[in-house]
Amino acid sequence: MATRKKIGLIGAGNIGGELARLCAADELGDVWLYDIPQKENFAKGKALDLEQNSAVIGYDSNIRGTANWADLEGADVIIVTAGIPRKPGQSRDDLVATNLPIIRDVANNAKKYCPNALAIVISNPLDAMVYEYKRVTGCPKEKVIGMAGVLDSARFQLFLAREAGVSIKDVRAMVLGGHGDDMVPILSACTINAVPIQNFIAKEKLAAIIDRTRKGGGEIVNLMGTSAYYAPASSAVAMAKAYLNDQKRLLACAAYLDGEYGYKDLFIGVPCVIGGKGVEKIVELPLSEEEKAMLKKSAASVQAVVDVVKKG
Ligand SMILES: NC(=O)c1ccc[n+]([C@@H]2O[C@H](COP(=O)([O-])OP(=O)(O)OC[C@H]3O[C@@H](n4cnc5c(N)ncnc54)[C@H](O)[C@@H]3O)[C@@H](O)[C@H]2O)c1
Repeated sequence: MATRKKIGLIGAGNIGGELARLCAADELGDVWLYDIPQKENFAKGKALDLEQNSAVIGYDSNIRGTANWADLEGADVIIVTAGIPRKPGQSRDDLVATNLPIIRDVANNAKKYCPNALAIVISNPLDAMVYEYKRVTGCPKEKVIGMAGVLDSARFQLFLAREAGVSIKDVRAMVLGGHGDDMVPILSACTINAVPIQNFIAKEKLAAIIDRTRKGGGEIVNLMGTSAYYAPASSAVAMAKAYLNDQKRLLACAAYLDGEYGYKDLFIGVPCVIGGKGVEKIVELPLSEEEKAMLKKSAASVQAVVDVVKKG
């Protein structure tokens, strides 16, 4: 008999709740919403609310809340949002001290209960947290990815679509590098349905859009007092779906580099083909000299945080 896929969501906060709603509504599998024992009832309450929602919307996925890692045994995918988000004035790197012990706790439990799951890490500082998750679990590089590039690309695409006055559906654009203020929007590969973006938007306007994209997370933190959660959740679900349905989508993901783009033993955002084997391919784009220099700067920023993590 066919069985449903099992999806473990680690952290039942703002992103975790939206992830649960999207995974269930899309019937990607049965969902376990895990949080720490002090938040067990909160996780159970959210799960019950979302199950009741199934009667209105009409989906068959089961959603359960738990504070017991044993319930996640054998999960096919886990998506990790455990940790604290930014407050106004904080950088993502300011979260290391709090989120490092949390990602280690999560990784140790994941290693024990669901070592074969595809892990999608969202917790910040993203590139360093996904690095630490892989180091602690020892998971193969194909099965551990960080979510940032899909979200940063989405922000870039939205600002481009609005400025160019075209449908968001026709914008093709990718943001690579680390999930920080020196992330790298790739203008050389940016088109409105194959027509170069420069045909639609002047150079100075593009520079302003790149700046807004880089500060896109902070703009929302300043408005809401906490991080974004709708678009981050959709981005991670796109990655999970590409894996579960073997879609072989080309998505910007933080992937473990072993020489690609000239970097080793580092996670940064690069174009990846995501299919049933996880990261099936890292695509090496022919970057301009300027883009290479920006990627180098971004990789150096990520490396600096990873060095802190390695000492911690
Ligand atoms: N990668 C990205 O693009 C991106 C985008 C937005 C937010 N984020 C990050 O995602 C993380 C979550 O954001 P949020 O808005 O959902 O935060 P949130 O505070 O709403 O939820 C986080 C949850 O993690 C739980 N938690 C803490 N320690 C845990 C542990 N050991 N095991 C399991 N759960 C634990 C907390 O109890 C809380 O419920 C933050 O670090 C935020 O900075 C990343």
